[in-house]
Amino acid sequence: MYLPPSGLFTGLLEPLLLTGLWTSDPRLRDCMRHLRQAMRESAGTVMVDQKLFRKCVGANILLLTQAFRRKFIIPDFEVFASNMDQLYYSTQRQEGGHVADYIPQLAKFSPNLWGVSLCTVDGQRHSAGDTKVPFCLQSCVKPLEYAIAVHEIGTEHVHRYVGKEPSGLKFNQLSLNDEDKPHNPMVNAGAIVISSLLKPNSNKAERFDYVMEYLKKMAGTEYVGFSNATFQSEKETGDRNFAIGYYLKEKKCFPENADMIAALDFYFQLCSIEVTCESGCVMAATLANGGICPITGERVLSAEAVRNTLSLMHSCGMYDFSGQFAFHVGLPAKSGVSGAVLLVVPNIMGIMCWSPPLDRVGNSVRGIHFCQELVSLFNFHNYDNLRHFARKLDPRRLSLDDRNKSVVNLMFAAYSGDVSALRRFALSAVDMEEKDYDSRTGLHVASAEGAPTYFSGIKLFSHIACTSPYCSGL
Ligand code: DON
Repeated sequence: MYLPPSGLFTGLLEPLLLTGLWTSDPRLRDCMRHLRQAMRESAGTVMVDQKLFRKCVGANILLLTQAFRRKFIIPDFEVFASNMDQLYYSTQRQEGGHVADYIPQLAKFSPNLWGVSLCTVDGQRHSAGDTKVPFCLQSCVKPLEYAIAVHEIGTEHVHRYVGKEPSGLKFNQLSLNDEDKPHNPMVNAGAIVISSLLKPNSNKAERFDYVMEYLKKMAGTEYVGFSNATFQSEKETGDRNFAIGYYLKEKKCFPENADMIAALDFYFQLCSIEVTCESGCVMAATLANGGICPITGERVLSAEAVRNTLSLMHSCGMYDFSGQFAFHVGLPAKSGVSGAVLLVVPNIMGIMCWSPPLDRVGNSVRGIHFCQELVSLFNFHNYDNLRHFARKLDPRRLSLDDRNKSVVNLMFAAYSGDVSALRRFALSAVDMEEKDYDSRTGLHVASAEGAPTYFSGIKLFSHIACTSPYCSGL
């Protein structure tokens, strides 16, 4: 078949994009390389013959099959993406809040900036708004730093120095728990101590590269940058953090031989690491996926490190709003003073929201609103009942319409003895035990029709026992 480049798009790429896969997905690298090569080599039209088709899909056949058979965690991604767009636009109307202005690098951002990106555990992607603009992670780096520390040196070692309890105090409070440890890794004191635990015997440059490498892997090699201007400003205006540092030193919170000033410096650097919504949501998706980056398949963090991190995000991630957020949203999240909210829907997806205006507590006004709306629409709250609570949408399930269509097609093929259709359904992973409104399976319908030509078709699913009350025992 000859396809112009636009035909190549509508014929091959558009259906692929509707499944949620992006052409930049590293897992589709070979497929995209062959397609681009074919486009370069052809003048205007591309001959998509069997050879080219095989070459393009061959290397990525498993992923493509999964995509087109709707076997991803969100089977009807098109509908889901349009729901997310609606949430995005309704949240855009939220006014109010103030952009952080303690340093010029944060104050410069327009209050109108607003972006949301998501990446599922199968690497399905969707973005709306200002999702390619770099911003600093600020406190969103705290759970990532903690996860790296637990992955590298273990839970026991890390928690020798830092607690696990919400502080009930401001994130930059000069305060320790009654064992003289920082309350948890999500407050400044905890993050500063943890920055002294990472690669203690390396020099500053090695330590920075080491964390950057981890973050890059979590982001599936997408954008992770560094704002030197932010780093310099954080240091210049960081009196409170210096005070915390000296207090931690006085109370012997650091490991022996740790250099407190170096730990502080590293903490300021970590806050100044940049992402976009698009790369940040892949980091969140790595957490949602138990530590394996969905778009590269690489294990970046241990399951234990991820579980600890999500638990602490859940109880301590949203400043003084953490309890309310856990109550209303019921999902692990971490916010930062840049207006970022890193949200994890465990085993489903990671989301990065970003909008600079902050509320009184320091959370992004639009970020919080979006998270609340998200769990009002979908049954993502940790304690939403997945079996009996039908008022919310469950995007993990195909719609009733789609399931009905598939039952009708199956029954019709069984009724009319269309063996090749039955084979096609079986090969494309249709559930051959699907039942109609009378609990009849295709086997029952085919048997009821009784013609011998149906036999080979019936044999395809002859292991199934029909449970219909109308069936006299097949
Ligand atoms: O430590 C600070 O003051 C900031 N650079 C971190 C800001 C932040 O996002 C607050 N987080 N808990």
